[in-house]
Amino acid sequence: MDFESKIRSLKKDLNAVILAHYYQESEIQDVADFVGDSLALAQQAEKTKADVIVFCGVHFMAETAKILNPHKLVLLPDLAAGCSLSDRCPPDKFKAFKALHPDHFVATYVNSSAAVKAMSDVIVTSSNAVKIVAKVPKDRKIIFAPDQHLGRWVARQTGREMVLWPGSCMVHEIFSEKAIVQLKVAHPGAKVIAHPECEEAVLRHADFIGSTKQLLEFTQKDAATSFIVATESGILHQMQKASPSKQFIPAPPDNGCACNECPHMRLNTMEKLYRCMRDKTPRLELPPGLGEAALKPLKLMLEWS
Ligand code: 13P
Ligand code: SF4
Repeated sequence: MDFESKIRSLKKDLNAVILAHYYQESEIQDVADFVGDSLALAQQAEKTKADVIVFCGVHFMAETAKILNPHKLVLLPDLAAGCSLSDRCPPDKFKAFKALHPDHFVATYVNSSAAVKAMSDVIVTSSNAVKIVAKVPKDRKIIFAPDQHLGRWVARQTGREMVLWPGSCMVHEIFSEKAIVQLKVAHPGAKVIAHPECEEAVLRHADFIGSTKQLLEFTQKDAATSFIVATESGILHQMQKASPSKQFIPAPPDNGCACNECPHMRLNTMEKLYRCMRDKTPRLELPPGLGEAALKPLKLMLEWS
């Protein structure tokens, strides 16, 4: 079946916008109206005039779109597309953690459930975390959750001491430092670029650290012609499209695979995207009251960005 043309015609019929994260498979990126990092996707969701938002990403991203658009239909091709980082921060445990530090300001990474967001003072993404943490009043102590590697990196950039929730991402924690060093030796002109969710041992080798969008922009502006890319390999599609003459080498994980894919992101397929638009399901729904509670810290993030 020609899913692409069917998706394009359903998009018109539904007055829908398709938002896709850089970690989606290439065909989904190519059929999307907008491809971006989690901040850019949230900003698009906030300003869209479409009646239906089709979110090609993981659950917390579609949930963010729903929090921002409680009256719109938000579709996610596979509702089971979760996030290991978000799953490793259950709301009841986070509540108990927060209670240990009652006077702390809570800065929470967008890779978290709506229930955890609702317990936070401000939300951050990997592209604005440094800027936002720097804005937290100097007399406030800070909790940062749920990614400890991003938190440690932000603490170094801002000089702010933070209590870190001990979470991590199953994709970014398995890059092999040894393989990256070997790639550097094999490609002496290549620059290493890494997402801040990577472990410190990997970040130490990076010439540039940033969100997916910032990594993409760096490869466009920088004079280097080859890059070793330490993040989910879906981003290579846009890098190669933007700079066809440059070489992009995915940094390998330590499990013997050549590149590193997020199993949650990759649950979405063109077929599921087509079916979800045709059937207007699966839909992202929020329990009453939760969206409103999570909106406050999310709005503060959009304001401070
Ligand atoms: P970005 O903030 O770069 O979109 O990253 C989201 C993510 O899930 C990284 O694993
Ligand atoms: Fe979550 Fe990691 Fe997948 Fe990003 S790459 S969606 S943080 S599991």
